[in-house]
Amino acid sequence: MTENKPQAELTEQSDVFLDEVLQGLAQQQPEIPCKYLYDERGSALFEAITQTAEYYVTRADLALHQAHANAIAERIGPAAHIIEFGSGAGTKIRLLLNAAEHLRAYTPIEISAQALAASVDRLQHDYPNLDVRPLNADYTQDIPDEVLQLEPPARRRVVYFPGSTISNFNRDQAKQFLNRMKRMTEASGGILIGVDLIKSTDQLLAAYDDAAGVTADFNLNLLKRLRDELGANLQIGDFRHEARYNDRFERIEMHLVAQRDTRIQLDGREFVFSKGNSIHTENSHKYSVASFTALAQQAGLTLIETWTDPDQLFSMHYLVPAESPVS
Ligand code: AVI
Repeated sequence: MTENKPQAELTEQSDVFLDEVLQGLAQQQPEIPCKYLYDERGSALFEAITQTAEYYVTRADLALHQAHANAIAERIGPAAHIIEFGSGAGTKIRLLLNAAEHLRAYTPIEISAQALAASVDRLQHDYPNLDVRPLNADYTQDIPDEVLQLEPPARRRVVYFPGSTISNFNRDQAKQFLNRMKRMTEASGGILIGVDLIKSTDQLLAAYDDAAGVTADFNLNLLKRLRDELGANLQIGDFRHEARYNDRFERIEMHLVAQRDTRIQLDGREFVFSKGNSIHTENSHKYSVASFTALAQQAGLTLIETWTDPDQLFSMHYLVPAESPVS
């Protein structure tokens, strides 16, 4: 919550926000990094997206967990240390905890101190024998290994990353991210990662442009942030949300498209948009099992097992370091 942050830290954060927006808007295809979609209002809107009829991703991920929790738990094996990236409210892990026997420990890593504290309280209440080692941190940054070490050590570390957030990275970033996870698992561990699957363009476009306009509000909220937090002079109504499927990169793209000739004035600079020009705000890459396996291979990982939900919309993969004795 921003209210609790020291002034210097807040100023530094808004300087970075301003710099990244200025740099992004100056590109030939203007863009704004998707992390800026998730302020407090944006995060609430994302939660609301997960409840829309069209956004199948969260329901399919949950259905996958419900269908395969036992098999996934068996794959993780006993005395494991599960490290979850971006644990949020901690809903999905419960399905694994119910199925897993004798976990050594569970480390939820979450950037929101409030969300982390609330979920850990609930977990400790419901699983009194579970060794919970919460970490209030940004999982996109390096996590020092010391904070993950246990005494006595776990039999293996398993980095757990459900929800398909990997989709929001481009392929190079995803490769680097997988590689960093691989280093965290050590040779005997593994990665349990959720990935959204390629499906019909119609279904994808509907999921990212729901009829109630929740995704549109989520995307347009970025312009509100530019206006309210960075002092930009702009007309939000001059832009509309658009979801596009980019066949070449197998990804959904979210854009804010100018509905008429308009401009954004920010920090003494002016960015001109002719009608139809856009600001690219998010990518959501879709994979086949084969294309994700190939990406993982490039990051030095071997696919051991894949599970999908009953409707085959979503997948979960267990990957191990290529040099691992299990691979
Ligand atoms: C967080 N992430 C996995 C979502 C996705 O599906 O790419 C973000 C999102 N953007 C619009 N709708 C959902």
